[in-house]
Amino acid sequence: MFKAIDLSPRVGSEILADRSALIEGGYSRKIEKLLVERSALVFRELFLTDEEQRRFASTIGEVVPLGEDGVSKISLDPMVSDTADYTRGAFFWHIDGANDRVPAKATMLTAKVLADGGGDTLICNTYAAYGDLPEGEKKALQGLKVRHALEASQRLVHPQPTAAQLTRWRTRPSQTHPLVWHHQHGGASLLLGATCLYVHDVSPEDSSMLLCRLHDWATQEPYVYRHKWKVGDFLLWDNTGTMHRADTYALDSKRLMHRTTLQGEEAVA
Ligand code: OGA
Ligand code: MN
Repeated sequence: MFKAIDLSPRVGSEILADRSALIEGGYSRKIEKLLVERSALVFRELFLTDEEQRRFASTIGEVVPLGEDGVSKISLDPMVSDTADYTRGAFFWHIDGANDRVPAKATMLTAKVLADGGGDTLICNTYAAYGDLPEGEKKALQGLKVRHALEASQRLVHPQPTAAQLTRWRTRPSQTHPLVWHHQHGGASLLLGATCLYVHDVSPEDSSMLLCRLHDWATQEPYVYRHKWKVGDFLLWDNTGTMHRADTYALDSKRLMHRTTLQGEEAVA
């Protein structure tokens, strides 16, 4: 049994599937195809164990060996996660691994503990957003390149960093990517997010205006799916033709997600 139900016209589908066949990869090709078409796939109250999540993930791609064998804890509590300091960066639209040459292919979360308020996860379809741009604008964007760096996303959390903070952020990789990602399968998407430091070869004012304008455009309601979590829900998103963010929640929240990321398969081009 496998059924995909659209949650809105442009983004997000709920998947109903036989649980054990799903975990063993029985639907992996269907899921890969839907990921690109629908951006975000929801499996309600699936209650995957870490082992099952790892297993399922490995049927869709190569699991990034972070955390415990590919399952990391996403939490704002430094006692729970040693990267808790960076978790607040996820409150802003981003793609995972934008500062890498090959961004992650997909990310998936199982909800273990919910926030008392806020904490929804939002995903926007940047294929659809790009596709709907006026043709003249699409032309104008071709060839533009954007610098992506941790500095940009961390400045949103720490607006007045010390030189020591800046130095620490700058030890991490940064990247210049095209603003429009032309994928191998033929589709094109906007590559944006909190990691955008500046657009190359334009004035700082034009750069910030263009980035703000495109972010406004790409995060309009028809392109966005908002997931309201229940414990046990499993959410999987395409990380290459989307952006995502967590709706803010209390900094002392016990909200906990178990996350698995799939290695990117395609450099941005
Ligand atoms: C992530 C992320 C969003 C969330 O894990 O990469 O952005 O809602 N998570 O926790
Ligand atoms: Mn993320």
